[in-house]
Amino acid sequence: MASPDDPIRPFWFIPSHGDGRWLGSGEGARSTEFSYLAQVGQAADRLGFEGVLLPTGRTCEDSWVIASALAPLTQRLKFLVAVRPGVTSPLFAARQAASLDRVSGGRVLINVVAGGNPAEAAADGVFLEHDARYAATDEFLTGWRRLMAGEKVDFDGRHLRLQGAELLFPPVQSGGPPLYLGGSSDPALDVASRHIDVYLTWGEPPHQVAEKIAQVRRRAEAAGREVRFGGRFHIIVRETEEAAWTEAERLISRLDDTVIADVQASLSKQDSEGQGRMMALHGGRRDRLMIHPNLWAGIGLARGGAGTALVGSPENIAKLIGDYRALGLETFVLSGYPHLEEAYRVAELLFPRLNIAPLDYGPRPTITPGRAGEAGGHFHDLNRGQAASATGPS
Ligand SMILES: Cc1cc2nc3c(=O)[nH]c(=O)nc-3n(C[C@H](O)[C@H](O)[C@H](O)COP(=O)(O)O)c2cc1C
Repeated sequence: MASPDDPIRPFWFIPSHGDGRWLGSGEGARSTEFSYLAQVGQAADRLGFEGVLLPTGRTCEDSWVIASALAPLTQRLKFLVAVRPGVTSPLFAARQAASLDRVSGGRVLINVVAGGNPAEAAADGVFLEHDARYAATDEFLTGWRRLMAGEKVDFDGRHLRLQGAELLFPPVQSGGPPLYLGGSSDPALDVASRHIDVYLTWGEPPHQVAEKIAQVRRRAEAAGREVRFGGRFHIIVRETEEAAWTEAERLISRLDDTVIADVQASLSKQDSEGQGRMMALHGGRRDRLMIHPNLWAGIGLARGGAGTALVGSPENIAKLIGDYRALGLETFVLSGYPHLEEAYRVAELLFPRLNIAPLDYGPRPTITPGRAGEAGGHFHDLNRGQAASATGPS
């Protein structure tokens, strides 16, 4: 059982649907070219993030392909990759997961996404209503877990039929990669309590997160299981509160009211309860964005999915993370615009307060730039604790 004193597990995010410095403006937008995504992944690996979430959907690069490409470029970073039951068969998805687990040396985590957008599901060939998608997910996971346990599976369900299904190349992680799920509806909580290792919630205020955790815990206990918890937040951390809030305002300063209305109208066509809960936090209004001290709903004005951000000084954000940690959240999937620079900022400002260490490359001399025109600099050898001089390339 996780204890509130356990360290938090920080994750970052691969912006495989694009990135930028402004919400709702194409100015300075960054494309999804792989060399950029690789920089973000390598930064996350180097800085001490435990893993990265790769989103899935029609607006994203394919998460399996991107994770596979990132695996050999990183050392310890884990990949939280989505599986969409209904779009793929359990054996096919299990083969992909096992192969990536083998390629990456056991660094795969699975995000089970039933889906919350009927139009997107239909485009993928899935014509099930919301609750039926979860019923199919339940059957999918029943088959998946048996395959990952090494069984030869025959299964005859309402949505799924398997005959002689067997995984011949096992995953590195015994029992298969851990399963995550982020739905907020009643059937999502049921599926989570029966099959899932880590239940994820978008960043709702603490009292709402506490309710969801209690519900999943209750149901999991009834099923004789234990579930762990994680939250998904954007983050805007700066040296001072004032600087962080100025940055939050800047991020949405080019977001037009008509764009907000269009985004909200489009999101309201989804049947995702989680999305509905995100939208209810701000109601599409710029004057309702402060939903809890250091928790801001501004990002949800411009996009679907995770719509809230931890905003503030390192000290205050660390405190709010501590509050969520005390409720039971252990994994924090964070992101900030733009994702490369903000990964560094979060690691430099926040990680020292959370006792998170960067990847250890051995001795780490810190180079202090020399005077202009000088060929070298000075470094302070952290390991020996003494200053030394260095000669740089001339
Ligand atoms: C942390 C987190 C990550 C998610 N990632 C995705 C994703 O990549 N693609 C997607 O279509 N839905 C994603 N979702 C949405 C849910 O998995 C779910 O399909 C949707 O909310 C509908 O379920 P609900 O009605 O039970 O909330 C994510 C949710 C959470 C909390």
